[in-house]
Parts: sequence; structure tokens; C-alpha cells
Amino acid sequence: QTVMPKLKDAAAFPVAFAIDPVRVRTNDLFRRTVLEHADGITATNCMKPSRISRQKGTFDFAEADELIAFAQANGKRVHGHTLVWYIDTAPAWMKQIRDSTQLENVLNGYIRTVGSHFKGKVASWDVVNEAFDNKTGAIRTDSIGHNGKTNLNLGRILGKDYVARMFQYAHQADPGALLFYNEYGQETNPAKLDAVIGMVADFKKRGIPIHGLGLQMHINIDTPDAGIEHALRKSSETGLMVHISELDISMNTAKTKPFKPTAEQLEAQYRKYRFVADAYKRLVPKAQQFGITTWGIADADSWIPGFCSCEDYPLLFDQGYQPKKALTGFVEGL
Ligand code: XIL
Repeated sequence: QTVMPKLKDAAAFPVAFAIDPVRVRTNDLFRRTVLEHADGITATNCMKPSRISRQKGTFDFAEADELIAFAQANGKRVHGHTLVWYIDTAPAWMKQIRDSTQLENVLNGYIRTVGSHFKGKVASWDVVNEAFDNKTGAIRTDSIGHNGKTNLNLGRILGKDYVARMFQYAHQADPGALLFYNEYGQETNPAKLDAVIGMVADFKKRGIPIHGLGLQMHINIDTPDAGIEHALRKSSETGLMVHISELDISMNTAKTKPFKPTAEQLEAQYRKYRFVADAYKRLVPKAQQFGITTWGIADADSWIPGFCSCEDYPLLFDQGYQPKKALTGFVEGL
């Protein structure tokens, strides 16, 4: 068996995994993989509003605090995800609010409480997630998400400038935290990429605090390299930190079930992971390299099969937490 170098030793920038505390608690191999390979973690779900505030006015930090204790005990950086998101992770009670003043106050209060609770423990936050519409590149004013469900209609209720105010609230809650705007699809959707870049320029002009851009980077083996490079280059030109925040690389582009990857597809995944790591290193200036986070560790934990209702194997470790060829590619690109 070849000895696989640890990601954190191989990378000149931070590498991280999205994880939740349950598996840290229950799966030894999972826990060990985090400890050996990661510089940091993002909470997959346990820091989302739907988990922290299940009922109006209540805050439950138990799971998040458990994750943070694990991270602190082992010297891992924690990136917070996410304060505001329109999609299914907005709690049910919040989705029922239609009045703009009421919703504004609720979000301000939520950010204040959560931001101050984690002050000094969570050094950076995704403040707003996925605010831009895929087709128009404008702030979303419909309430149907990519999950096909009806969601919290932030843009229509609060007005299109709500994102700026959420950043101000986050800054007030924890003036020391690095504030990120997180989005998906910049590598394949130029309208959205331009919209994000335009928002940063506008924030800078108006003095709205923002420190980083998260590119989720849920891609597949056919995602064009040029689009990935373009998104990284344009995002870097803002001067902000750039975080590849949720990387995974699907192979099942036909979204079939069952699915068994061919040797060619595994090879393509290996190449794509290598390409992403290398492009990040080449195109993001050192001082702006916040790092690369993969959305999960092993194929067994990936959200993709649930999302596409298909089988897929988009991560660096296999179902048994063993390194895949994709990991070799990622390490080669670092
Ligand atoms: C996903 C989680 O992985 C799932 O477990 C959950 O059911 C839904 O959310 N973009 C994001 C992440 O910003 O928060 C999403 O995480 C994946 C897409």
C-alpha cells in the first residue's frame, strides 16, 4: 500500500472538510481522517438557522458547541456556515414571516445572538448564501430554490439590498470575524459571477464590510477548466479572500441509479481534482488564499446522491474512508 501524504502537510494553504459532530462522535475512522488531513472544518448543517433556532426565540447551540470543542481541542480552524440562507435551512417559523420589518428584526436578532455566541471561536462566517438568481444574475425575488421547494423569499420581502444589511449586522455582532459571501455556479454561470463581483464593488464603494468570497464549486468531471479559471481569476481581482468552500466533483453526469464509475470517469475525477487544486494555487494570490474545503470527507457522507436522487462518488475518500485516486490528484495539484 502506498503511503498517502496528509492533505494539510501537502498544501501551502488551509484545507478543510465540511463535517457534523455525529460522525466525529461515532466513527473512529472519520474522526481520524479529520485529525490527520484537515487544517479546518466547516459545519455541514449544525450551524444553520434551521438547527440553531428550531422555534421562534429559541437557540440551541449544543451540536455546534460540540463541534467547536472538538476543533479547538485539536487546533482546527472553524468556518461558520451560514447565517442567512433562503433555502430549506431557514427554519419553518421564519419562512412564515411576510412582514418586512418583522423579518428584518428577526434576522438582525438572529445574527446578533449567533455572532456573539461564537465570537472568538468562529473566525469567519458565510454571512449570506446563494442570494443571486441563476438565470438573471439578479438578487432572487422568487421563493423557489434549486431544491424545488418554496422557501424564504428574502429578496422580495426585504428588498434587493438586504445582503448589505446582513453584512452590517454580522460585523456589529462580531467586529473581528471575517465575513464571506458564499455562492454556487460561478464557474459555469458568467451572469452570476459578474453579479457577485459587482456586489463586492458596490459594497466597497459604500463601506459595507466584506472580506471574502466563497465559491462552492459543486462541479462535475465535465465542468470546463476555463470556467473554473475564470471564476477564480475574477474573484481574486476583487482583492478579497477566496475560499473554495464546498468542493465536490460528480462523475454521474447522467444522474443514473444505479451508477458504477468507469475507469475513464475515475481518471477524469482524478484529473479534475488535480486541476482545481493547481488552479487555486496558480490563480489566487497567496495572501488571498483562505483555502479549499471539500463538502464532506468520504463518498459515504456526500450530499450529492440525496440531491440528485442518483448514485455518485464525488469526494476524496471512498465509502470505507480509504483514499481514492481523486485524493492523489488533489495532492498532486496542491
Ligand atoms: C447541504 C447538506 O450537505 C445536506 O446535508 C443538507 O440536507 C442540505 O444542505 N450548498 C450549501 C450547503 O451551501 O449548505 C449545502 O449543504 C449544499 C449546497
